Amino acid sequence: MTEIYSRIAGVGSCLPDKVLTNAAMEAIVETTDQWIRERTGITQRHIVADGQYTSDLGAEAARRALEHAGLSAADVDLIIVATATPDLTFPATATIVQEKLGVKRGCAFDVQAVCSGFLYAMATADNFIRCGQATTALVIGAETFSRILDWTDRTTCVLFGDGAGAVVMTAEPGSREDHKGVIRTHLRSDGAFCDMLYGDGGPSRTKTVGLLRMQGNQVFRHAVSKIAGSMSELAEMAGVAIADIDWFVPHQANQRILLGVANRLDIPHERVISTVAQHGNTSAASIPLAFDVAVRDGRIKRGDLGLMEAMGGGFTWGAALARY
Ligand code: UT7
Repeated sequence: MTEIYSRIAGVGSCLPDKVLTNAAMEAIVETTDQWIRERTGITQRHIVADGQYTSDLGAEAARRALEHAGLSAADVDLIIVATATPDLTFPATATIVQEKLGVKRGCAFDVQAVCSGFLYAMATADNFIRCGQATTALVIGAETFSRILDWTDRTTCVLFGDGAGAVVMTAEPGSREDHKGVIRTHLRSDGAFCDMLYGDGGPSRTKTVGLLRMQGNQVFRHAVSKIAGSMSELAEMAGVAIADIDWFVPHQANQRILLGVANRLDIPHERVISTVAQHGNTSAASIPLAFDVAVRDGRIKRGDLGLMEAMGGGFTWGAALARY
């Protein structure tokens, strides 16, 4: 039987037009531009307009990724949306994106792993492709966290932004040992940490959506070691040295976390793709957004080896190794 791998055929992203600067944040909660920049690296974030939904951002990112790949909606037979801010409790935002794109075949569903969602979605799509159940997958991270923030809580509302990123993954003949496309993914979770980062509502428990709650410094304490551990295990499983990685594309939660991980693994800072200053933390959207920025500005080139990582509510965390 011919082996199959998942090629990353195209990338795309979408950010809402409205920009909320740190200076504007100072008028909303008791904070300062200096505190936000020094503690997080964030200078601004994008915020959706009234009537603009997660599915709108996700569908636009997907259109741009399809165009980048030279493919059309008719080619797509799998859509996975990673989101913690779906348009509705159900149906899945992925089915709404499917309708907006005019995709008429295959299947569409959401995955929920909060900030690690894109890695979970990419791993799922990769497995669908490798086992022959899909040939052209849209893997989308799309979020409107501005809608679930407590805008009176300075410890959380300054951190997050809205946006979407997408990759097109296609089935190509080749084996895992060729180290092409998505080489390996490594996913972890530990529900013992549920109450450190969560939404305080949900259809079953409260019949509401709830707002984001986070013990930021506790999350921070776990982030660097869990993420770095996952990256090391993944690199070892794949037989790749960290020194061979061309680009480190981390989840953009905090500049101190992503550089802390880079330092722990001796990754030079010039190989780190950071968009946290401009985007803030866009949860599941942050990795594909950063990836798209670096492909379009020419840093990430065809053939380059990239290592992605994330940690989020649950906790969930993990890493993915891919050759672009
Ligand atoms: O993507 C999902 C995963 N999420 C993350 O990875 C986030 C992880 N956590 C973090 O990035 C950081 O913990 C934060 C940026 C959230 C906070 O930074 P920190 O260095 O851990 O600060 P802290 O929570 O220990 O707070 C230090 C001080 C506190 O004041 P006191 O108690 O020392 O007087 C806070 O009340 O900073 C205060 N503070 C603020 N001050 C001005 C907290 N938020 C703000 C704010 N503006 N926005």
